[in-house]
Amino acid sequence: MSVAGVLQSMEYGPAPESSAPALDWLKGHNSKFGLFINGSWVQATGGVFDSINPATGEKLATMALGSAADVDKAVKAARAAFRSWSKLSGHARARYLYALARLVQKHSRLLAVLETLDNGKPIRETRDIDIPLVARHFYHHAGWAQLLDREFPGRESLGVVGQVIPWNFPLLMLAWKIAPALAAGNTVVLKPAEDTSLTALLFAEICTEAGLPKGVVNIVTGAGETGKAVVEHPGIDKIAFTGSTEVGRLIRTATAGTGKKLTLELGGKSPFVVFDDADLDAAVEGAVDAIWFNQGQVCCAGSRLLVQENVADRLHAKLRARMETLRVGDPLDKSTDIGAIVSQKQRAQIDSLVQKGVAEGATLFQPKAGCPDGCYYPPTLLSGVEPSSTVAQVEIFGPVLVAMTFRTPAEAAALANNTRYGLAASIWSENINVALDLAPKIKAGVVWVNCTNQFDASSGFGGYRESGFGREGGREGMFEYLKRKDALLPVAPKRAAKPARPLLAPIDRTAKNFIGGKQARPDSGYSRPVYAPGGQLIGQVGDGNRKDIRNAVEAAAKAENWAATSGHARAQILYYCAENLSARAEEFAKRVRQMTGVSPVQAAKEVEASIRRLFTYAAWADKFDGAVHDPPLRGVVLAMNEPQGVVGILCPDTAPLLSFISLLAPAVAMGNRVVIVPSEHHPLAATDLYQVLETSDVPDGVVNIVTGARDALAKTLAEHGNVEAVWYFGRRDGFRAVEAASAADLKRTWTVEGDRLPWFDDREGEGREFLRHATQVKNIWIPYGA
Ligand code: NAI
Repeated sequence: MSVAGVLQSMEYGPAPESSAPALDWLKGHNSKFGLFINGSWVQATGGVFDSINPATGEKLATMALGSAADVDKAVKAARAAFRSWSKLSGHARARYLYALARLVQKHSRLLAVLETLDNGKPIRETRDIDIPLVARHFYHHAGWAQLLDREFPGRESLGVVGQVIPWNFPLLMLAWKIAPALAAGNTVVLKPAEDTSLTALLFAEICTEAGLPKGVVNIVTGAGETGKAVVEHPGIDKIAFTGSTEVGRLIRTATAGTGKKLTLELGGKSPFVVFDDADLDAAVEGAVDAIWFNQGQVCCAGSRLLVQENVADRLHAKLRARMETLRVGDPLDKSTDIGAIVSQKQRAQIDSLVQKGVAEGATLFQPKAGCPDGCYYPPTLLSGVEPSSTVAQVEIFGPVLVAMTFRTPAEAAALANNTRYGLAASIWSENINVALDLAPKIKAGVVWVNCTNQFDASSGFGGYRESGFGREGGREGMFEYLKRKDALLPVAPKRAAKPARPLLAPIDRTAKNFIGGKQARPDSGYSRPVYAPGGQLIGQVGDGNRKDIRNAVEAAAKAENWAATSGHARAQILYYCAENLSARAEEFAKRVRQMTGVSPVQAAKEVEASIRRLFTYAAWADKFDGAVHDPPLRGVVLAMNEPQGVVGILCPDTAPLLSFISLLAPAVAMGNRVVIVPSEHHPLAATDLYQVLETSDVPDGVVNIVTGARDALAKTLAEHGNVEAVWYFGRRDGFRAVEAASAADLKRTWTVEGDRLPWFDDREGEGREFLRHATQVKNIWIPYGA
């Protein structure tokens, strides 16, 4: 064809990347792989399965199916390696991570081609996005290893970490898991997704090439059963999982009460909000990146398009025109926009959800060109969708955009939050006030302003609500792979249970609950006797039940303005509480003494320490700042510490006034509302506090106090759908019930042996650890600079 002819047609010619190096690599292994355990390739005892190229349907390799026995072997290797790996200096580990980063770069094209063959995603994405981000993750974490001692004092590695990852970003998810784990001094057993294990095996070779000590990284391939064996292995100290919310819930249940640390990065149904003053052409390109990047198989895909009504027709028209130009086809072709879906199973699921959307009344648009036969799916727009319809609620995990409209910013916020998920959001407006007014209102871990699907190792990624908990990347991500050096006191002797006796005195002489700023009679009509250490009856408190907790949560939920109160204002109120407590210090000291039998000096010390602690959190209220990250893009990331919401707190019996204040104050200082259950055995100092709270300008509903049996109330709180987090400072044998109950809506739990915490010690009994649990980080990406 002549040059003039080419210019006339403007057709793209094919620009295929050669698959030869990757196929040669497979041939070099006879297209058959074992498990990578203790630095060697070993045969699996669970059998084999096939790895398929979804774009062609051809078999790529025979993979090993790891059994529970194989997982056990890997865990033992990791445990043995942990002894010396965890003792290396941060600098020594930094060198290994740096070597891994360099080698990923050195093999980047091979990794990119192999990933494309295995997953079906376009080479443009593996080459320009996935693999560079993998290298970046190892570089960034080489830095954290180097700085570990200085930046994370008092922390140590966890041990052996089990990691289970999905198929949508196979090598990137591996990097997100392995880099921080190794930087923090842990060793790893990783199970890749059964559809996409090949780059993990090439990475295993890279570990060998980097001279990583044997057993530090172990890769066990297999399917769900293999993942389950990793999750359930008793020799594992932490599970990090990315995948479906359903499996995340199973993992939460399976790990409940085991003491395994857990992070879950789960599904999403993220809103892509376009205001009428947005640059609509930019927003269309943003939508392309939001939902057609990686065939829409992205947990944070902008899959719900929310457009301001007066520009909806224009935006939809532009979008449809753009969709006509998207090229669907051979993933190895460098000009392909949309490659193959990962598997026929996933394709069938996408199609069935689209059919359901149409059956429920949505209007379907797909480009005229359609898509090739095989495991492909065309870019799809479903408009006129009802917010409650299946396709507006369920994660489709495919190239399907679901469109709705809104009129006002308030409606945009309500629609954006009309989901059980909370992973990400994208906001489009040329008016920074509009965008930054909405950003804090959306319940999501990441908010992109006039951009979308941006990721960087410096900025934590993770969800709110049922999108999981914990963050990957950045400083927050490092905390997930570290623990405090154990400073707990020896196990306290088990307290002899007092016989549960029903009402001994008329109920009106009983301390009531404190709900919505008022003293409220317990619903049960029963009270609990409170005894001094010598056995004398010293008072009675209400025996709170399910209904009391419900009322308290309702009151707390209504007090949501507290979250928007400034840190300065919250500090004032905490100072005021301290002042009022101080005015009644003697009376409280007497109460502490009467309840616990400590000496007068010790009782006075407890009151003093409680006042000091209120001062501490008043001080922190306007100082627990977020951060501004500077990722390699033209923008900044505001890492904002947001309150969790309604926090249920169960207090220990030790130092009952001090521990109560030590848990209440950080939660409230950070803008949470609390439903707090005081010490089961010594609740009277907390019930005496009602008057302090009433006279200190604490807004109604911010602090709600329900007395009663700790474990029963803990379970009720953990099961309650409007409670975002539960802090259980009880006995170890109570952890399981709380963690298992939290699985239903994946709420955050913090379980600590509260009676073993040295509450008087300012290093252990207060500080950043408490503030971190009181908050979750929202990362807001904003264009900045030229
Ligand atoms: P999945 O959650 O079943 O698989 C993710 C990983 O977990 C895989 O490695 C799998 O082998 C493993 N696994 C499965 N069952 C397990 C168990 N009981 N215990 C431990 N590990 C287990 O996700 P799947 O089936 O691949 O995809 C299903 C749907 O999940 C998708 O359609 C999509 O909606 C969602 N998904 C979300 C992802 C995200 O990043 N948020 C990633 C992958 C899938």
